[in-house]
Amino acid sequence: MSQRIKIKALLQSTQTDVEVTVKGWVRTFRNNQFIALNDGSTNNNLQIVVDFQNTDEALLKRITTGAAISVTGMLVASLGKGQTVEVKATTVEILGDSDPEKYPLQPKKHSLEFLREIAHLRFRTQTFGAIFRVRNSLAFAVHQFFQNQGFVYLHTPVITASDAEGAGEAFKVTNLDLNNLPRTENGEIDYKQDFFGKATNLTVSGQLEGELGAMALSDIYTFGPTFRAENSNTTRHLAEFWMIEPEMAFYDLVDNMDLAEGLLKYVINYALEHNREDLEFLAQRLQEEEKSKPQNERSEMTLIEKLEFCLNNDFERLTYTEAIEVLKNSTPNKKKKFQYPIEGWGADLQSEHERYLVEKHFKKPVILTDYPKEIKAFYMRQNDDNKTVRAMDILFPGIGEIVGGSQREERLDRLEQRMDEMGIPKEELWWYLDTRRFGACPHSGFGLGFERLVLFVTGMGNIRDVIPFPRFPKNAEF
Ligand code: 4AD
Ligand code: MG
Repeated sequence: MSQRIKIKALLQSTQTDVEVTVKGWVRTFRNNQFIALNDGSTNNNLQIVVDFQNTDEALLKRITTGAAISVTGMLVASLGKGQTVEVKATTVEILGDSDPEKYPLQPKKHSLEFLREIAHLRFRTQTFGAIFRVRNSLAFAVHQFFQNQGFVYLHTPVITASDAEGAGEAFKVTNLDLNNLPRTENGEIDYKQDFFGKATNLTVSGQLEGELGAMALSDIYTFGPTFRAENSNTTRHLAEFWMIEPEMAFYDLVDNMDLAEGLLKYVINYALEHNREDLEFLAQRLQEEEKSKPQNERSEMTLIEKLEFCLNNDFERLTYTEAIEVLKNSTPNKKKKFQYPIEGWGADLQSEHERYLVEKHFKKPVILTDYPKEIKAFYMRQNDDNKTVRAMDILFPGIGEIVGGSQREERLDRLEQRMDEMGIPKEELWWYLDTRRFGACPHSGFGLGFERLVLFVTGMGNIRDVIPFPRFPKNAEF
């Protein structure tokens, strides 16, 4: 038997009248004659023509939607519309039957909500095939971007005793018997008896450990899973998400912003170059979906145009203070259209404000800097005004915050003072503070939420649809 060829390669081949073998899953079987076969290598199906008059009836019956089959036959130029080549089957072998009465994926349109309930099968739809191929490319491009510049990929721990963001949203990790917890004399849980001899949790960020690496390797990045037990049931939050966190010695905030903008443009461009078909399919999907929306809520650009626009324009850079002025004077604020009205300086921006700045005011990605220190983490470098810190957030259309980062506070006294003010235990972070004691230097970094990036590039509306198995409140199926 000839060697198996992937459908993507086959559809691009110019050589016909050769024998080929393909394997995949049946999408549809029409008129007892035409199989649409897909093997996940491309969104396009391969048409297989079955000689039904000379094929066993029992076999034909087993060619059903969802079945896994192996086909050997001649690759020929196609007479039909929609494809240039097709395979005239000489043998069809059923590798795995799929009972059409029970198979949950029918050859019709299913809602994304329904598909989320059968996430183990949704890879077999065109939409999810496209999403996960794009996700794969973006992940690869992230590594390529950093590797090209000599960054070291550093694996930071998944289990940690620190809560880097100090937000108290960590999931606990323990092997204590929850029905019989050991107690101290004061009645508190005795973590000394726990596996690690102290209380531990799943990491919310690899940054603090990343900084340790940067203080020797100069430029590092992490790319791994992060966990947050925040109870936000939104279209942009997951309890388990992947984050890319570069950390660079000798970078100030401007260098940091340049790197982040460069990274985003690089990976978006990579997807445009390597996943054109999938993106065009997703663009089409989005356009269909938007037809059900009122005209004024539809986007002015197609998905592809939006991605290209992002590549071809400098991100708007302004301070938090400047942004507050824009928002205060904005029409929705004056007309009391914001759910959270902008009253003055100091409040955290809500996603409605971020999206106003990006989608309505500047109409392009925005980088906000120098936020009030009260709403940012302890490790950000303090400005001389004593009010703001060298933070930067990148805001994207349809997404809001996609990147959060800062220049780090490298001055030991200022850092300790801020930790005291915020009630962050210095003793537990002795190792972090050591970097400020021995060879401290200006440095910066940021975190890019990988699923928010995939959300933007695929034009999907819900973050639960761009990670294979989403984790969110009350859901850990599969
Ligand atoms: O802004 P955050 O909390 O920043 C940090 O964790 C820093 N330690 C990063 C750094 O400087 N090294 O998170 C960074 C990004 C956000 O901008 C967002 O894109 C994403 O992570 N993110 C989430 N994505 C999905 N679900 C969640 N619950 C997320 N929380 C944050
Ligand atoms: Mg943030």
